[in-house]
Amino acid sequence: MEEQTGEILIPCHIAIVMDGNGRWAKQKGFDRIFGHTNGIKTVREITEASVEIGLDFLTLYTFSTENWNRPQTEIEGIMQLLVQSIEKETETFMKNNVRLLVIGNIERMPKDVAAKLNGCIEQTSKNTGLSLVLALSYSSRWEITKAIKDLVNEKIPAEDITEQLVSKHLTTNKIPDPDMIIRTGGEVRISNFLLWQAAYSELFFTDTFWPDFTKEEFCAIICEFQNRERRFGKTSEQVKCE
Ligand code: FPP
Repeated sequence: MEEQTGEILIPCHIAIVMDGNGRWAKQKGFDRIFGHTNGIKTVREITEASVEIGLDFLTLYTFSTENWNRPQTEIEGIMQLLVQSIEKETETFMKNNVRLLVIGNIERMPKDVAAKLNGCIEQTSKNTGLSLVLALSYSSRWEITKAIKDLVNEKIPAEDITEQLVSKHLTTNKIPDPDMIIRTGGEVRISNFLLWQAAYSELFFTDTFWPDFTKEEFCAIICEFQNRERRFGKTSEQVKCE
């Protein structure tokens, strides 16, 4: 849930579908990996902005379950970029009090990538500022299916299953639901991302390709969020009285 600071509502958790790297590169006559390489600069800029704003959680849809179906060279390129970024940024995370978290099927990640991620997660685990959550080998249907299997394996009786218990069995169990979800790159869909958690998220879509997305546009979208009325199923009159 967002925080009220004076008159300004600061969201607690923003999740982003970083789309458009491939098309951005193609437009410039380069191969797709050039788009991902430039996408990392945007990851840096938006993470920095999130620290400055005082956001608690920033979740980035970095690699979906379905992305395993991409050409092997592109998958390897993205994995390599991930390892390089973690190596390069861990020091900055420590300096800026950023904690790294991962959601998704980390067991499916290549061993060296998983080891690098786990090292950074461990090293930054005591940081208390922004939690940067990378969704890796993640999809909502995978996550919900896993939660159902776990509930069955734990032999939880049907009458004891509540929304809270389901939430606890998701990979996001220690992370609040996103207040906002932003998708760059012009497509207007959710693509198997945080389907359960997005029940009351405010959605924003921009045509800007991820490598061109800036701090300024990010802040402009947050301002738009601040002007939306979140009713959570109640009436406008009820919300105004709260
Ligand atoms: C979507 O663009 C982007 C991805 C699937 C990969 C994003 C990965 C990075 C930016 C690199 C690693 C990130 C971190 C956090 C260190 P797309 O390829 O689907 O673009 P398209 O829709 O134009 O084809």
